[in-house]
Amino acid sequence: MQKTNILTGTSGLQKAKEILLAESIVAIPTETVYGLAGLASSERAIKKIYKIKNRPSINPLISHYADIQEIKKDVELTELGEKLLKKFAPGPLTLVLKRKESSRISSSACAGLETAAVRIPKHDLTLKLLKALGEPVVAPSANPSGSLSPVSAKNVVKLFGDKLDYVLDGGPCEVGLESTVVELMSGSVKILRFGAVTIDDLLTVVHEVKIPGKDEAIKSPGMLLKHYAPKCFIRMGFDKPGSNEGLLAFGSLPNSIDKFSYVKNLSEEASLEEAASNLFKMIHELEELGVDSIAVMPIPDESLGKAINDRLNRAAASGEKS
Ligand code: TXA
Ligand code: MG
Repeated sequence: MQKTNILTGTSGLQKAKEILLAESIVAIPTETVYGLAGLASSERAIKKIYKIKNRPSINPLISHYADIQEIKKDVELTELGEKLLKKFAPGPLTLVLKRKESSRISSSACAGLETAAVRIPKHDLTLKLLKALGEPVVAPSANPSGSLSPVSAKNVVKLFGDKLDYVLDGGPCEVGLESTVVELMSGSVKILRFGAVTIDDLLTVVHEVKIPGKDEAIKSPGMLLKHYAPKCFIRMGFDKPGSNEGLLAFGSLPNSIDKFSYVKNLSEEASLEEAASNLFKMIHELEELGVDSIAVMPIPDESLGKAINDRLNRAAASGEKS
């Protein structure tokens, strides 16, 4: 059985470039989570990505760029968009903008929509790769559709097994949680997915940030689907520990700690940044320890806590073991 090849350093970068130019796919590191990359212009690569992820074709992909000038070639970058990029790029912010007629992004990567999602990842190795390619790559999170995103090359190997031939190893992901996705089509900033760039961060650039209400249709197709489900059951709260249950703690540990099989603390100092960067990593670790369920201590629903709770609530809602 063919094993996944882990690519490293300059030779790894060169190999990843060759794979992409040959219209094949390779997992790449970013500051948020690992992505499954293919040339944005290649129908063939995009088909492979949807197939290996088992991703519904209605769920569009994010294109990744080395700089703002490259983004301008493919989407109508509004003044507001440029302002946001100048403040947050490279970094974990994705903009949904009108796709240009002449765009290099294949329409199948955009699920037939008139818009495209673009971002500049803050990861040296991947920025070098994008510069060397001179064209954008699409990269959805490198996990089978619906499961937990990978935050290390090892996680990617675990998630795809021998189905994926190559991973470019760029170390653990610093942010550890997917990018914030905002739509700019109405001329204002509307959050489609909470992420590492918080509402308060955005408010340093704009006066208003719209958040989809509970009854409003979320325009980011991916957010309608079952998401972030590890193999074990996740529950919010930590009363009555179950047998073979792991605890995902936050801040000071509770008295009931001895009743849990394993305890991982997202942040002893109750730092939301630290908790975000540990979230997927620790769920992967608890899953590998073989717990049946994971109990989660409350995390303040403010600032980065909104993105953390969004992922946890979705994981909890995805229900039974799968
Ligand atoms: O941090 C990230 O964004 C990671 C890294 C690898 O860059 N990528 C990532 O991709 O999370 P993915 O495919 O797992 O999530 C992309 C999200 C989905 O919710 C998708 O529906 C949304 O972006 N999206 C993509 N294009 C869109 C569009 N044109 N309109 C609205 N939402 C869009
Ligand atoms: Mg994803």
